[in-house]
Amino acid sequence: MSPGSLKKCFRATGGSEAVDLALQAAMLHTGRSKFVSLEGSYHGNTIGGLSVGASEYREDCKNLLTRCYKIKPPLNAKSLARVETLLKERDVAAFIMEPISINLGVLIPEPEFMTGLADLCRRTGTLLIMDEVATGFGRTGTLFASEQFDIEPDIMCVAKAITGGLGGMGAMIATAPVAKSMEEKGHFYSTYGWHPRSVAVAIAALGYITRHSQRLLKDVATTSAYCRERLMAMPFKKPASFRIAGLAIGVDFGDESHAAEVQAKCRHEGLLVANEGDSLLLLPALNIDRAVAAQGLDILERCI
Ligand SMILES: Cc1ncc(COP(=O)(O)O)c(C=O)c1O
Repeated sequence: MSPGSLKKCFRATGGSEAVDLALQAAMLHTGRSKFVSLEGSYHGNTIGGLSVGASEYREDCKNLLTRCYKIKPPLNAKSLARVETLLKERDVAAFIMEPISINLGVLIPEPEFMTGLADLCRRTGTLLIMDEVATGFGRTGTLFASEQFDIEPDIMCVAKAITGGLGGMGAMIATAPVAKSMEEKGHFYSTYGWHPRSVAVAIAALGYITRHSQRLLKDVATTSAYCRERLMAMPFKKPASFRIAGLAIGVDFGDESHAAEVQAKCRHEGLLVANEGDSLLLLPALNIDRAVAAQGLDILERCI
């Protein structure tokens, strides 16, 4: 199912472990130890994942890897110039990001940023890691969000929907050359990685997705359009802007306390939404039916 030249999977118990394996593989393959990631991003709870995640945590946890530089969104030509400066020393092992950042309130990069990034990585021997733990398996309207850009990642991390959320599993998927470095020099033993019960659940979930992918993605597109239409018509108290990719929906109020207030009201009314900084985050099940989607949006409308 994985796109491009991603051929070989390494087992993990979840997303954080998959990201750690990716960082390890990048270091072993390139012989470098620096990383670049997005400011404010989230890549899991291990020391490796936290190191490439939001840098504010650095103040509290001195054990984080120190050699990770951050790119501040928006992701456009200006931020690409900063990437170029960082990569040109040819000492960065990998650039890691979510192709569409769920954890930054559905941040969608400009296509030119992604093409430029892939080109810079190729030219400087830097690996490109796409963390698809949250975006993988249809969330953003394509099977993988990376497919929406003209890029060929060297490594992809998946978890969450690989089991439909019903088993603990993750995978680091690499191209053949990166996989070879990992197999020769890496440490990837994991007692519960790909536990037989999780494997059974994953085979069922992936089998379902494979058999029904056309319908599933069509439903995602239809429900996404419906949500957009409903949101655009809502009488928000604070001006809101929307960032929508499939069924990853960010409603940006530009106001953290207002987002928190709406989130709390929704929760009280029985609608679970997340708030990420200034934004509300709606992540409905991909197979949600129209009536349930309408019910959720009605609650949101009452709470704004
Ligand atoms: C983008 C991303 N990477 C990594 C992780 C970590 O995954 P897990 O919680 O399975 O360790 C998450 C979890 O939310 C995530 O959203």
